[in-house]
Amino acid sequence: MASTPPLLLKTKAKVTATATLTTTKGNSLLPSPQLHVIFGLTAHSYGASETGSFISVLSSVRNGVRENGRLYPSYGKYEYGLPMDESELDRNQLQHHKFTLLLNHRLYLAPIPDSVLEQPGSRVLDMGTGNGVWAIDMADKFPHAEIIGNDIAAVQPSFVPPNCIFEIEDVEEDWPYPRQYFDFIHGREFLYAIRDWPRLISQAHNALRPGGWIQLASSYPLLRSDDDTLPPNSALLEITDSFIEISEKAGASVHALREWKHQLTDAGFINVADVVLKIPMNGWPKDDLLRQVGELEEWMLRDGMESLMLRGWTQVLHRPAEDLALYIALAKKELRDTSVHSYIFFHITYGQRPWS
Ligand SMILES: C[S@@+](CC[C@H](N)C(=O)[O-])C[C@H]1O[C@@H](n2cnc3c(N)ncnc32)[C@H](O)[C@@H]1O
Repeated sequence: MASTPPLLLKTKAKVTATATLTTTKGNSLLPSPQLHVIFGLTAHSYGASETGSFISVLSSVRNGVRENGRLYPSYGKYEYGLPMDESELDRNQLQHHKFTLLLNHRLYLAPIPDSVLEQPGSRVLDMGTGNGVWAIDMADKFPHAEIIGNDIAAVQPSFVPPNCIFEIEDVEEDWPYPRQYFDFIHGREFLYAIRDWPRLISQAHNALRPGGWIQLASSYPLLRSDDDTLPPNSALLEITDSFIEISEKAGASVHALREWKHQLTDAGFINVADVVLKIPMNGWPKDDLLRQVGELEEWMLRDGMESLMLRGWTQVLHRPAEDLALYIALAKKELRDTSVHSYIFFHITYGQRPWS
């Protein structure tokens, strides 16, 4: 019988409430009379004796789980490898800046005419929204569209544009959204979070209006250099290789993005395209834009390597946290070396639901 690896299906009872913990009215994450639940169970669906369990669900979602000095989400079918604390939210912010710069100040590449999202009644979903910065920027850019950001972690800000809504959802569960509801579904940097991409893609297909678009995007942490300047004994290489091994052992392989194009086509999407961009590991490129992107990547990794690695390193690889600290110290030193021309790829895959 196969053993159950860590970071896999949780054994404890699943939390099933679907709650909007932060709304446009700026509600706090604490249960309150204004707490507003959009889909699934509402506080009013509970009988008096169940109200207590609803409140405890909410407080457990808000508080998360503390482990090795970091805070992890408690909601969702599977344990997630990355934390949800301040330092991780800062990393989300830096990543957003880096990705929009890489896309020449665009928020997405799917060829959706602006006129679609400028229409009142148009809707966008940001899956795994993190600190919500992409959803907030979209809400500012398209004030007549409703932008919904969902996540298993209740970490989004309260003061957001009135057309931006955050919800607590696990996208690996059955989606609560009606069929043909969204004009655009977006998911960035949650490769390591998803076990069943075909199921997620099929749910997205159902939730899109005819003619609507999906865009999936992620870094692919396979470190390489074109001129052999990356030494085989690099600590950074050890860390990225270990990250790949963790993702495979946890059942959420980062190689999954290589299948997105086929999976979108198999699900019935048309106009499917794969765009692959380079992210340098520091400011080594001569090209201005790539140098800036590389500098942001270096900054992100200096502060974020522990976020990315700690849970998987200790729980999946069963290696001591002290060893990771050592590798990170060595990798930080390497990151300063612009004579090493290493980079990773950033994949963007998009497709359109047919009109009929
Ligand atoms: C690396 S962050 C990326 C955040 C944001 N998309 C961005 O690009 O900055 C991944 C996010 O996905 C969320 N997440 C992980 N598994 C999820 C799931 N099954 N359903 C919804 N969100 C999930 C995490 O809580 C985290 O906030």
